[in-house]
Amino acid sequence: MQLNVNGKSYEVDVEPNTPLLWVIREQVGLTGTKYGCGIAQCGACTVHIDGTAARSCAMPVSAAAGKRITTIEGLASGKVLHKVQKAWVDHEVPQCGYCQAGMIMAVAALLKAKPKPTDADIDASITNICRCGTFQQVRAAVHAAAKV
Ligand code: FES
Ligand code: FES
Repeated sequence: MQLNVNGKSYEVDVEPNTPLLWVIREQVGLTGTKYGCGIAQCGACTVHIDGTAARSCAMPVSAAAGKRITTIEGLASGKVLHKVQKAWVDHEVPQCGYCQAGMIMAVAALLKAKPKPTDADIDASITNICRCGTFQQVRAAVHAAAKV
């Protein structure tokens, strides 16, 4: 099966129902996308499929074939950080960091769909779980990124 990940084409030999998360990590070799719960609850595995946030642990790889898959490794433009990544650095959002790739991908998709989200929009859209409790910093960084 042919996959387009971060603008590059990859030929992968996997069962069609393999979760996209494992194909990204094990076949494509990009390990920024994390495994948390495996049941579409925590958001650690969030990637973009044609620009929309998706939880890759719960998506069969066959559903992503022929679509644009973007992972955290493909969010920046070369050495220029995405505005969400920049806001994350400026607000020192990450603690242990484990949930953060998924969180950033979810926020990047939110800002694309809704450039000036309210706190209620953030609460409704960013349902990612952070065991370190970075939610206040996340909210502040989302508003900062929305001003760019
Ligand atoms: S690992 Fe996919 S949502 Fe938790
Ligand atoms: S920063 Fe540790 S789980 Fe979110």
